[in-house]
Amino acid sequence: MSENISDAALPVVYRSARVGYTGDRPIALITGATSGIGAEIAAQLAGRGCDLVITGRRVEELANRARELEERFAPAVRAVACDLSAPDCRAALVREIQGLERLDWLVNNAGYGRGIAFTEDTYREQRALLAVLLDAVTELTHAAAGRMQRGAQIINVSSLAGFGVSRRSAVYCAAKAYVTSFSESLALELAPRGVGVLALLPGYTYSDFHRYEASARRNRGLVRWQTSAEVAREAMRAVDRRRVICIPGRLNGLLYVLVKLLPRRVVYRVMGGKPLHSRSASGPAPPSASPDSPAATNRGSRELS
Ligand SMILES: NC(=O)c1ccc[n+]([C@@H]2O[C@H](COP(=O)([O-])OP(=O)(O)OC[C@H]3O[C@@H](n4cnc5c(N)ncnc54)[C@H](OP(=O)(O)O)[C@@H]3O)[C@@H](O)[C@H]2O)c1
Repeated sequence: MSENISDAALPVVYRSARVGYTGDRPIALITGATSGIGAEIAAQLAGRGCDLVITGRRVEELANRARELEERFAPAVRAVACDLSAPDCRAALVREIQGLERLDWLVNNAGYGRGIAFTEDTYREQRALLAVLLDAVTELTHAAAGRMQRGAQIINVSSLAGFGVSRRSAVYCAAKAYVTSFSESLALELAPRGVGVLALLPGYTYSDFHRYEASARRNRGLVRWQTSAEVAREAMRAVDRRRVICIPGRLNGLLYVLVKLLPRRVVYRVMGGKPLHSRSASGPAPPSASPDSPAATNRGSRELS
C-alpha cells in the first residue's frame, strides 16, 4: 500500500465511443464489476438505462466486461483500473465521483477473502483486506452520499458472514458486520433526503470469490449456493421495495434467523468446528463454515495485471 496520495487519475481501460455522462441518463458507479455479483449488478443497472463507471484490477477482464455490457445494453461505459487497498487509488476514485455530472447509484461491491487464520497471515495483508472491505466502502460512500439527489441509491455488498464466526476469516467477518451496521444507520440518516441505502447480505454465491475451491462449491444441509445473477436480481427487487437489508435466497434467510436465535455458544460450536475452549493444538484446522469464508483464495496480493 502506498502512503503517498498522488493526484494522478486512474487508468481508463475501456471507454465507450457513445456519448454519455451528460446528466440526461442516470449514472451508476460499481466497484468490483470484473466478475461475480458486481458484474451482474452492473448488467441490471445498464438494463435500467444507467450509464456506468465500473472498477476492478484485472484490466483485460474488466475491459471485456465493459465491452459486453455495451453490446448488450448500449450504455456509456467507462472502466477504470483501481486497487482499492491503495489510498491513492481510493482518493482518485473519490475525485472520479466528484467529477461526475450526477450520481444515481453507488454499489460498493469489491471484496475478497484471505481464508487464513488472522495470526498466520501478515498484518500487511490483513490491513489491505480491511482497506478494501471497510475503508473503501466508507470513503466512497462519504464522497457519494453528500452529492446524491432524491431517488439515488447506495448498495453496500456485505455478507451473511457478518453475523457468523469463522476460525479463518476473523477480519472478513468483522468487516462485513461493520458494513451491515454502517448501512443500516446510514439508511436512517439519508431517508429524509430520499436517498436509499441497501445492505446486501449474500450467502454462498458462485463467482470468482471461491474459484480455487471447486470441491466446496456444493449444496449441503441448509447451505444452498446461488448464482451471482440471482443475487443481483434479488438486490434490485429489494431496492424497489425500499428495503434496508436484503438476504437473497430463502434458506439463507432461515440461516440468518437461526444464527440470531441460537445461543452464541451453539453458533461457535457449529461454525467454529470444535469447542471454543479446547486447548489441543493438534490435528488439522476445521473447515470454515462461514457463508463465504474462502479456504485459500489468497487474492489480496494480486497485482494489477
Ligand atoms: N461469493 C460469495 O459467496 C459471497 C458471499 C457473500 C458476500 N460476498 C461479497 O460479494 C462481493 C463480490 O464478490 P463476488 O462473490 O462477486 O466475488 P468476485 O467474483 O471475486 O468479485 C469480486 C470483485 O471485487 C474486485 N476486487 C477484489 N479485490 C479488489 C481490490 N483490492 N481492489 C479493487 N477491486 C477488487 C474484483 O475485481 P478484480 O479481481 O478485477 O480486482 C472483482 O470484481 C464481495 O464484497 C464479497 O465479499 C460474496
